[in-house]
Amino acid sequence: MIGEMAKIWRARTWMKKNVPFLYSWHAYVGYELELFESFKKPASIQQVALAKNVEMDLLEQWVEVGITLKHLKRASKNRIKLKNGWKLPSSKKEAFSSGVLLKEMMELHIPALLSYPSLLRNQTKQHFNSDLHGSTVAKTSILLERFAFPKLQKVMKKFRVNSVLDLGCGEGGYIRRLADRYPKKRMVGIEIHEGVAREAREALKAYDNIDILNRDLHEYEPDQAFDLIMANNLFHYIDPSRRLQFFEKASEWLDKKGQFFVLTPMQKSKHGKQFSSAFNSFFMTFRNLYPIPSQKEMETLAKKTGFKVISIDPIVKEGGWYALCFKKK
Ligand SMILES: C[S@@+](CC[C@H](N)C(=O)[O-])C[C@H]1O[C@@H](n2cnc3c(N)ncnc32)[C@H](O)[C@@H]1O
Repeated sequence: MIGEMAKIWRARTWMKKNVPFLYSWHAYVGYELELFESFKKPASIQQVALAKNVEMDLLEQWVEVGITLKHLKRASKNRIKLKNGWKLPSSKKEAFSSGVLLKEMMELHIPALLSYPSLLRNQTKQHFNSDLHGSTVAKTSILLERFAFPKLQKVMKKFRVNSVLDLGCGEGGYIRRLADRYPKKRMVGIEIHEGVAREAREALKAYDNIDILNRDLHEYEPDQAFDLIMANNLFHYIDPSRRLQFFEKASEWLDKKGQFFVLTPMQKSKHGKQFSSAFNSFFMTFRNLYPIPSQKEMETLAKKTGFKVISIDPIVKEGGWYALCFKKK
């Protein structure tokens, strides 16, 4: 009898532990279908279902959940209105909505984690489709920019950098922030994904000191050395067996005393172990993505390739995200 009670109690505990998921799910659906915008002013469910051309029962249920979570509230004349809107992701149309993170979690991370049983059973991994997810992934990285940029700027100032190479530059956010401050310095971004490289070019078209090349960095050969090379949020795209060669190339492409700036989540780091282990669990379901590096791995690679470790600073402590700065000896 006691055993049965304990089982029920345990089941209840798991259900309660899962409640935060409901908040994320609700916010994700609202962001993805821009439903929060529809209820900014009081509106009836019928009105919104018609205007958005969506299934009414499901919309009604989403609204019910929203009311219990205090994302929405009832207004007069059977209408619904946004509640605590400041907590919710802003519109998709805005450049920096936290919704992109929800989208990545819900469309990529959670499904990948749920595929563990079948991947384990079938002794296989899946393929990361960058055509499908490349743009979302590049956009979520942009959210980190604000925290990481001051570290980068410190390096720019301290070492009087005149030329920058950004490997895996995504939509070119770091280059753009640098270009706004240093319009005369030579900057090159390398991005393998055609659509993402196009976005970067479009965002940077006003600057004539910047080149965005749609290339695989492993096949790239620069015609001049650089003072600073960046590899931001890139290490999980590089096979650990190629990381030594990657460091060697960075060293070869840098001028004497050049700087190598790396932004990455790290495994088994002092901070943010839970988050970094979750990231790793996600990355490792894909045969074309790789485990995030550990601090020890990065230090060993630096040592083997003639770099001095200048600094290793947490950017988002709870996420185990770090900025690492190496100097070519
Ligand atoms: C997570 S995003 C980070 C973008 C940007 N560096 C940032 O931190 O915001 C990583 C980018 O690296 C690109 N990438 C991955 N492997 C690459 C390769 N071999 N050559 C060039 N770009 C690559 C991906 O397409 C993706 O846009």
